[in-house]
Amino acid sequence: MPHQTGAENVHAIQYHQHTLILLDQRKLPHEETYLHFKNASGIATAITDMVVRGAPAIGISAAFGIALEARLQINLPALNLRDAFTVLAASRPTAVNLFWALKKMKEAMNDCASLNMSEQVAFLEETAHTILNDDIKNNHIMGDLGASLIDSGSQVYTHCNAGALATGGYGTALGVIRSAHAQKKITHVYAGETRPWLQGARLTAWELMADNIPVTLSCEGAAGQLLRQGSVKWIIVGADRVSSNGDVANKIGTYNLAVLAKYHDVKVMVVAPSSTFDLSIESGDLIPIEARDEHEVTHIQGIQMAPKACPAINPSFDITPRELIAAIVCEQGIILEPNKEKIMAMLGNTEKESR
Ligand code: MRU
Repeated sequence: MPHQTGAENVHAIQYHQHTLILLDQRKLPHEETYLHFKNASGIATAITDMVVRGAPAIGISAAFGIALEARLQINLPALNLRDAFTVLAASRPTAVNLFWALKKMKEAMNDCASLNMSEQVAFLEETAHTILNDDIKNNHIMGDLGASLIDSGSQVYTHCNAGALATGGYGTALGVIRSAHAQKKITHVYAGETRPWLQGARLTAWELMADNIPVTLSCEGAAGQLLRQGSVKWIIVGADRVSSNGDVANKIGTYNLAVLAKYHDVKVMVVAPSSTFDLSIESGDLIPIEARDEHEVTHIQGIQMAPKACPAINPSFDITPRELIAAIVCEQGIILEPNKEKIMAMLGNTEKESR
């Protein structure tokens, strides 16, 4: 049963009257601005520019991008969505949910090819809605599964934002935190601020405060000292891509936390729907890591912090090796101490079915 919380009111992605409406996450928490989109290239730019972010949310938005582009072609003799698929696929490289959703839309296109144009467009819109609704359903399932691993009275730490804003709703890591808090198992959440985009400070703190879940912000460098004090029991994060051996790509800084967690005997839980697994990739070393503009590191809100011309690195994600992960929670079940055998046993068939 979905828990009735403030999360129910956070809608980062809405589709009304053949328009995709995205909450501009760059402006949160101080401004709630909604941007309207009617074509694929606008949505691709919104993904690249971080209007919408978070692996599942990126995939859902791209699916609506395909449906919208189809609607623009409703009076043509046939659909030609090749450019739409290309521009959306180029919007961000790491989150596999994007490519998963585009594959679902391509399959839907093939499935409805014999229908008339308005039926094809309606079918693609319906498929995008199904991707959105299934994501929310899966988040509630994962919320309860993940909560079952947490003991009463626990404090937890989360990184970046894997909440309602990053998904269709409710969240993956924050879904577990919401469910466990509703079950009175979590007493306190620490949110890492997450440089350089501050998803933890701007988005996770905002979501948890809206739900009256006690949250304290921590700058990244404070995590070691915090874990050393011994009250944090779990680090709970989302993922952008999980390779078939259980390595996890997630927001830059996740790996640091997992190494610290190992030293301090804190467990790491990764919460990710099956759409985040890439079983075609053997290990995390093969996951493409997005390198974003160095200005995101050298500047803060347009103001230069580093000396002029100082070079900076800005990898958006890192790889946490499976050995550092206590559990991966997916809607199909919990994988403790993940490895290839366990992942294939749980998800191998899902992959084949979707081919
Ligand atoms: O760069 P972002 O904000 O898209 O990165 C988001 C993350 O790394 C999340 O942890 C991940 O996508 C999971 S969201 C449920």
